[in-house]
Amino acid sequence: MDSSIAPGPEPSSADDATSVGRSAPTPVTTRRGTMKAILHDRYGRPGVLKLREVDKPIIGDHQVLVRVHASSVNPTEWYGVTGPYFARIGNGLRKPKDTTVGADLAGRVEAVAGDVKEFQPGDEVLGISGGAWAEYACAREDRLVLKPANLSFEEAAAVPVAALTALQALRDKGRIQPGHKVLINGASGGVGTFAVQIAKSFGAEVTGVCSTRNVELVRSLGADHVVDYTQEDFTKRGERHDLMLDIAGSRSFFDFRRALTPEATVVLVGGRMTYRGLGPLPHLLGTLVKSRGRRQKVIFFIAKITKADLAVLHELLETGKLKPVIDRKYQLSEASEALGYLGEGHARGKVVIYV
Ligand SMILES: NC(=O)c1ccc[n+]([C@@H]2O[C@H](COP(=O)([O-])OP(=O)(O)OC[C@H]3O[C@@H](n4cnc5c(N)ncnc54)[C@H](OP(=O)(O)O)[C@@H]3O)[C@@H](O)[C@H]2O)c1
Repeated sequence: MDSSIAPGPEPSSADDATSVGRSAPTPVTTRRGTMKAILHDRYGRPGVLKLREVDKPIIGDHQVLVRVHASSVNPTEWYGVTGPYFARIGNGLRKPKDTTVGADLAGRVEAVAGDVKEFQPGDEVLGISGGAWAEYACAREDRLVLKPANLSFEEAAAVPVAALTALQALRDKGRIQPGHKVLINGASGGVGTFAVQIAKSFGAEVTGVCSTRNVELVRSLGADHVVDYTQEDFTKRGERHDLMLDIAGSRSFFDFRRALTPEATVVLVGGRMTYRGLGPLPHLLGTLVKSRGRRQKVIFFIAKITKADLAVLHELLETGKLKPVIDRKYQLSEASEALGYLGEGHARGKVVIYV
């Protein structure tokens, strides 16, 4: 059972393959008290986010009520809240039907549904649930794993969406192999900082592309080579790579194919965030079109939430092969500042919200 990491309504526990960017309104009851949560009742700049007192969610079948201690900020929240038209599909064209925000979470289990086998109250968990920018969230059992003991809640909350994306891009779409030369364009952001470490854990030779202030960070994550894009054009270095993760979406196919072997694979992860307009779509579609008929394989994908991959990440985290990089931390009441910061496009690792 899995679901895509993209804006869209949160599935109910009985509903299989859907998305997590936003959740459908969580069932609420007044009998269980209230909580603070971040909501947006219209689309717009991050200032539309409001901290409100709402009913605490109640658990449905296969669900776990988590007292959220931390969440993190992903571009999916940027698009879900700012609402360029392509991102409104499924959540109301004029105003959001689902007003909750947030996906990543780390916290402590407060209660479980009767059919939940794996978790019990008191367990410390990490995973994904719609409406995670709140004091409580109901997560499906198959979207949670135990939090590795060596991670704080804030570190754990930095992991799910970004690290699942990096893992699946490299392993499933990129078919990474030991010794592969892997180029990561956008190595210093949320997805990139995980991608560098995961690519190294597969035994690849990694080149990361970032700006001057992040060169040391990317090197410290294990990158064998770091290209400062303000000083050097990675497409003109004469190096050829077997696999490229295009996270930044900063260059056209005709430019970056100079840095690829003839049989290379390019995994398109994302592109420049914009406030309105088409966001990363022109880059993604343009690259797919330009690559038609070429030997290099270009793949766009949307990461999926799978329990199996959350478990893979758990193992990498527990053994110290993967370490979240946290840039800034914000309180729940500062969610609009957190989202605004991410929207500037220069986060160093993850932006975390603590609750
Ligand atoms: N396909 C999927 O399933 C999926 C899932 C998650 C995210 N995404 C997409 O992936 C993209 C990145 O997500 P994220 O969470 O990593 O975002 P992020 O944390 O905001 O990434 C910001 C990073 O991008 C780097 N960057 C900006 N301009 C660059 C350039 N010209 N060249 C190289 N690096 C540059 C910045 O480094 P400097 O400050 O050094 O410039 C910064 O570290 C977004 O478009 C997002 O929508 C896709």
